[in-house]
Amino acid sequence: MKIALFGGTGPTGAHIIEEALRQGYELSVYTRNAAKLSAFDGRIEVVVGDLNNREAIKACIQGADAVISALGPNSLKAREKRPIMRGVGTIVSVMEELKVRRLIQISTAIYRDPKDGFDFKSQAFVTLFKLIVPKAQDDIKATAELVSNSSLDWTLVRIPNLKDGPATGQVDVGWYGKTKLAMKLSRGNLAKFLVDQVVGRQYVRAAPGIADGS
Ligand SMILES: NC(=O)c1ccc[n+]([C@@H]2O[C@H](COP(=O)([O-])OP(=O)(O)OC[C@H]3O[C@@H](n4cnc5c(N)ncnc54)[C@H](OP(=O)(O)O)[C@@H]3O)[C@@H](O)[C@H]2O)c1
Repeated sequence: MKIALFGGTGPTGAHIIEEALRQGYELSVYTRNAAKLSAFDGRIEVVVGDLNNREAIKACIQGADAVISALGPNSLKAREKRPIMRGVGTIVSVMEELKVRRLIQISTAIYRDPKDGFDFKSQAFVTLFKLIVPKAQDDIKATAELVSNSSLDWTLVRIPNLKDGPATGQVDVGWYGKTKLAMKLSRGNLAKFLVDQVVGRQYVRAAPGIADGS
């Protein structure tokens, strides 16, 4: 089986690539800068393009069984409005065209799942980040809404603060305000959860929160 990966050049991306290869998947990874993936030469297919390049996005997704997107705003210098939402919009549209149904996208508590209760801690962080980086938060929310309104078999994986570290196998999964969820998550645990969702059906069309287990 093959995964098309977007946003694979960040620190979480490296964990996702290693986890997917460990689980026996083929990988097609999309990037603006192939040099950032040189550590994986010969082990993955690399497709170069920006998020406005529909044809390159299509080349990356062609032949894939699922798409994982770790895309998220990581620059304060973005010139266009909601660059991630626009790029993910093209990814969704290409997936519909190619009949690739499974999409797993990283998100945060700024998106509310209908199963959530009230959770002061996560909403306090959302309010804080809206004040510090309003454009990035607006983009993350708009991206989640676009994905959840699509007809795909989507999962929004909502995360707290990330820290570097391997998969420990100890992860709590659930709904803000209903499940006890810590405010930290290792990138290894995130990567394993994302890759496990490729065949996992439990969280299709849902947005579970995940955190390092207590
Ligand atoms: N760090 C945290 O505590 C935290 C908290 C909440 C959510 N998140 C989200 O978790 C994910 C992984 O975070 P991370 O810290 O491991 O990595 P990251 O550095 O935030 O990775 C972001 C990825 O998105 C890509 N990207 C961003 N803007 C883009 C654009 N305009 N066009 C094309 N690609 C673009 C980056 O590509 P380039 O390498 O080319 O820039 C990179 O591959 C991200 O979605 C992040 O928003 C992180």
